[in-house]
Amino acid sequence: MFSSRLAFVDTPNALSQAKEKRLAAGLPLVDLADTNPANAGFAWSAAELGPLLRRDGIQRQDPDPRGLPAARTAVADYYAARGQRVALDRIFLSASTSEGYAWVFKLLCNPGDELLVPEPAYPLLEVIAALEGVTLRPYRLVPLAGEWVIDSVSLTMGRQTRGILCINPSNPTGAFVGRRDRDVLRGFALKHGLALVCDEVFLDYPAEGTVSPGTWVGESQVPMLVLSGLSKVALAPQLKLGWVVTAGPADFIREAGRRLEHVADAFLSVNTPVQLAAVDLLRRAEPLRAAVRARVAQNEAALRAWVAACGQPCSVLPRPAGWSAILALPPGVAEERFLLRGVEEGVWAHPGYFYGMPASAPCVVLSLLTNPDAFSLGLAALDRALRRS
Ligand SMILES: Cc1ncc(COP(=O)(O)O)c(C=O)c1O
Repeated sequence: MFSSRLAFVDTPNALSQAKEKRLAAGLPLVDLADTNPANAGFAWSAAELGPLLRRDGIQRQDPDPRGLPAARTAVADYYAARGQRVALDRIFLSASTSEGYAWVFKLLCNPGDELLVPEPAYPLLEVIAALEGVTLRPYRLVPLAGEWVIDSVSLTMGRQTRGILCINPSNPTGAFVGRRDRDVLRGFALKHGLALVCDEVFLDYPAEGTVSPGTWVGESQVPMLVLSGLSKVALAPQLKLGWVVTAGPADFIREAGRRLEHVADAFLSVNTPVQLAAVDLLRRAEPLRAAVRARVAQNEAALRAWVAACGQPCSVLPRPAGWSAILALPPGVAEERFLLRGVEEGVWAHPGYFYGMPASAPCVVLSLLTNPDAFSLGLAALDRALRRS
C-alpha cells in the first residue's frame, strides 16, 4: 500500500537503546550531540520576537511565492554585508534550509536521477533525497594538511547525474570549500553540464584565524543554487525560515527562477509572521553569532586542554569553522564501544560513522555549543570512558 520512498529502517541501534535505557532510569546524561542553539542558551528575547505577533502578520496574508519583498530585501542585505549584490528575484524563501534542499531536488531531478554529495557530511540529505525519489552518489572529502579536500578520483558521473552538492563550510568537519575545490567542482560541473548546490548555513562561524573564502552567491559561470537559513544564521531553528539563491548564467537564473516559483507556489509554506520578523532578526543577529563563536572557541580550548592532559593517544582535528569538534580516538578504540561506555559514564555523543567518517579513523563528534559547565562534565565522563576502553 505504501510508497517505497518511506521504507526507512526505524529499529534503534545499540547506542540509542543504551541512551533510552539510561534516561528511562532517570540517570543524568550530558548531551554532547545537541546543536540546537536554544537548548544551549542562545535565544532571542520575547521583546525581540515581538514582530512575530504583529497584527498585520497574523490577520492577513499577501502571498508571494518567492517570499515577502521586505524579507527578501533583508536576505539581500545579508549578502551585501558579505560583499555580494543579489537581486531580489534571485531569492526564494522556504520554511527551512531542509525544505530548500527538497525544492532544489525537485528543480533538478526526475525520480531516479542522481546527485553527487560530499562524504563525510551531516546525515540530512539521505532522507530528503529518498522523499524526492533521488539517489545520492557520494564523493569523498579527505583530510590533507589540516584541511579537507575533494578526492578527485571519487568524483564520478553516473548515467543520471544532475548536480553536485557541497557544504561551505561543512558539518561536522567545519571545512570550507576552498579555492582548489571550487575549481574542481566548477570544472566538473561545466564539463558535464551539471548544476552546483552549495549549503552555506555555517558561513558565519569561521574559527578565529581562519580566512573564509566567502559565499558562493556571486558565481557567474556555473548554474548555482545557494542554500541558507535562519536556523544557523540567526540562531533560530524553531522559527522556520530558509532561502535558496540562484546564481550563474542569466538564462539559468531566469529559467530556474520561473520553475522554483511554481514549486514555492504549490505550498506557500513560509508563514507571514516569520517573514516580518526576519527583517529585524537578520539585521540584529551578529551579537548572538559572536557569542556562539566565543562559546565554541571556549569549549574547543577546554577540549584541547583535556586531550593534551589525558595521557591517551587521541587528538582533536583542526576546526576551520562550525559548531562541532571531531575527537579522533586512540588506535584500536572502536567508536560504538567507546560511546556505549560513555553512556554508562553519563555522556552522549555521535559516532563518526553517523556522518560517514572513514571507519579506518574512528572518531566521535562533539557539539561545542554546549553550556561550558555541562561540557566539562561531559569531558570528565569521556575521560572515564576512555580509560575503560
Ligand atoms: C549543514 C546543514 N545544512 C542544513 C541544515 C538544516 O537546516 P534547517 O534547520 O534550516 O533546515 C543543517 C542542520 O543542522 C545542517 O547541519
